[in-house]
Amino acid sequence: MTIAQAFYGTFVHAPTTKQLVFLKNTVLVLDRHGKIVSITPDQSLEQAQAAFRALENSKTTVLNDNQFFVPGYIDTHIHAPQYAYCGIGHDMPLLKWLNTLTFPQEAMFQDHHYARQVYTKAVARSLRNGTTAACWFATIHLEATKELVKAIQEQGQRAYIGKVNMNQNSPDILIETTAASIADTRAFIEYVQAVNRTMDPDSTSVSPPLIQPIITPRFALSCTSDLMIQLGKLSEEFKIPIQSHLCENLEEIDLTLSQFPNSTTYTGVYADHGLLKERTIMAHCVHMKDEEFKLMKDAGASISHCAGSNFNIKSGMADVRKMLDLDIKVGLGTDVAGGYSPSILDAIRTSRICSIARNPTQSLLIPELFYLATLGGAKVMGLGETIGSFEVGKDFDAVLVNTAVKNSPLDSFGRDTVQTKFEKYLFVGDDRNHERIFIQGREARLPE
Ligand code: GUN
Ligand code: FE
Repeated sequence: MTIAQAFYGTFVHAPTTKQLVFLKNTVLVLDRHGKIVSITPDQSLEQAQAAFRALENSKTTVLNDNQFFVPGYIDTHIHAPQYAYCGIGHDMPLLKWLNTLTFPQEAMFQDHHYARQVYTKAVARSLRNGTTAACWFATIHLEATKELVKAIQEQGQRAYIGKVNMNQNSPDILIETTAASIADTRAFIEYVQAVNRTMDPDSTSVSPPLIQPIITPRFALSCTSDLMIQLGKLSEEFKIPIQSHLCENLEEIDLTLSQFPNSTTYTGVYADHGLLKERTIMAHCVHMKDEEFKLMKDAGASISHCAGSNFNIKSGMADVRKMLDLDIKVGLGTDVAGGYSPSILDAIRTSRICSIARNPTQSLLIPELFYLATLGGAKVMGLGETIGSFEVGKDFDAVLVNTAVKNSPLDSFGRDTVQTKFEKYLFVGDDRNHERIFIQGREARLPE
């Protein structure tokens, strides 16, 4: 159980796409569940110390001028097994990359001891980069996916975790029967529910559990109609979200449409199989027709924009400006290992370049990018009321940034304001500047 805590210093967040807010000289108080109970800006140090004295038995922290808090980053799309080969294979486009590199790599996760090794590192790397909540793909393997749950639970990240479903167009080493795919998905959901029942009942009664299962058909090409329909029903039965890939690459789109001739568009394939819902998160959406955006919008589904991956494996450039104008929920994803970087700071930078390359007069601005990395991602996960910004009643998921740590990539020369320190951090900083990481008020436990 967490005890009450209080902080005094600067908090930076983007409560809307238009606004970067610097809450300066602010006293922020948490209850013992890690929920924010008060935010009081513009306090002198004396006022803050008086407020601290009034909070008996609480842990208090005073930040210095080189420190500020940001909301924890949200990675709306990342593949845990692919961390093992981050940085290789970028000369191949999607389908070749899947068949020659990714599928043989993922087949190795039938060994759950190997899975444990890779997953422990993948989660630690994600957390160190400031990702306090992530939507993870595992592999088709039930036991290995349980290892991902354990690694995430031990380190304290908030996460949606999916056992991947694949029952067609996949190599013999990485394929399941429809019956096994459904049975193992059900077993995985029940496993996560059982794990959650062992958690502190006091804290789960006031917030949704940190770890939740998510239905994860890899993409339409690797799932039969029958499997997709049954997965949609599982999502309804357990009221859990769905994640997949959509309109990433032109060759993939052509193949999908020839595989599912009864649907008029790729987005329509998911809609026609009961997989396009308010709780659905679709990665990429690079090559979308207007009618496909409309299907997404009407369903209330969300998009994970993975610019790094879209450049690396040469998929194209998604139109995030259009998604925002259409008021479709969108967040950022690293898509490791299509993307080589597990850092949402890197995703901010790459998304910016992607938007400029598409249309320099309509490019994404800094408040928009920071919003997408935080509150935008929270909304994609259906957690817009729980995390993503500093508001009374939300959980404290946050990163303590220090711009002056040893070996910091940032220099100041005594001339910076907190605004310019923040902006330098956004474009030049990295995980070395992440001093402490909090999820629901608890500090993450990173392995050595
Ligand atoms: N489409 C289907 N599977 C994958 C995957 O693992 N990565 C990416 N980027 N696209 C996919
Ligand atoms: Fe992906």
